[in-house]
Amino acid sequence: MTEPLFSEDEEFDRPRLAAHGPVRVRVPAKINLHLHVGPVRSDGFHELTTVYHAIGLYDEITARRGDTLTLTMEGEGTGELSLGEDNLVMRAVRALAAETGHDAHARLHLKKQIPIAAGLAGGSADAAAALVACDQLWGTGLSRDDLAVIAATLGSDIPFLVLGGTALGTGRGELVSPILTGGHTWHWVLAVAEEGLSTPVVYRAFDELGGHTSAGPPDGLMAALRQRNPEVLANELANDLQAAALHLRPELQQVLDAGLDAGALAGMISGSGPTCVFLAEDARHAALIAADLEESRCCRAVRTAVGPVPGARVL
Ligand code: C5P
Repeated sequence: MTEPLFSEDEEFDRPRLAAHGPVRVRVPAKINLHLHVGPVRSDGFHELTTVYHAIGLYDEITARRGDTLTLTMEGEGTGELSLGEDNLVMRAVRALAAETGHDAHARLHLKKQIPIAAGLAGGSADAAAALVACDQLWGTGLSRDDLAVIAATLGSDIPFLVLGGTALGTGRGELVSPILTGGHTWHWVLAVAEEGLSTPVVYRAFDELGGHTSAGPPDGLMAALRQRNPEVLANELANDLQAAALHLRPELQQVLDAGLDAGALAGMISGSGPTCVFLAEDARHAALIAADLEESRCCRAVRTAVGPVPGARVL
């Protein structure tokens, strides 16, 4: 069921020379097809068993040579997101520089389509993109596995965003192994909420509600992915954080109901929320569900996306 993280060709083709022109990297959002939350560990993180799935909703980072480290942005979250040293992108670049001995010099520009604090790992995606972009800009020539090791020090979801596809995540989510899905494409509809939810707040609510888990091992999901039948997959989607997200934001239940009323095969909260994600039969079905959701005006924005797609890649 698992395969090597990256094909030999991909590793072999990677340039080892610094780039002179701008380096553009595209990175996807993620959803969790299965999210089992275990006990809190001594480091404060929860033990997870999750199935990550990268979907075709993208951020883009362009890295150019510079004498210092700067970050600018446009799109989702502009004006709300700090562009200072606390931004995950800046922390990722500093971590790569420290690891490789390179000066942390780059001019970075982020084009953001992935909504912030949405349960789609947008910030983690940007950190993954920054690692891949500066690796290429500086010609540091790290392997994807090396980048994933640095990524793991920065956040639980970031190694997956370097990898992409569909993958099993364990530990606090940072230990990822790819899952073979046989090249099948799944069709998703996302209902983006007006206001974000903080991931630590949702985990805290999960604990306060008793830490109940409904998601068992993801064996049924793995089998459903191999069967390539969306109706089978619909019965296997599971998210232990859903009850906590709904507790904090009860009105999300109306969004879930609206998606199901529109004919979605299944609906769930994405990760820690508040984005609701719906499974469709195919592209046409996804477009119909999206149109119905838009008409219902139950959310800020509606997007369709396919998955799985690759992780952070140079364009
Ligand atoms: O790893 P990351 O920085 O993305 O995690 C954000 C927050 O989510 C953590 O500070 C923690 O509160 C919570 N979390 C957790 N257990 C995990 C992953 C995240 O409690 N496995």
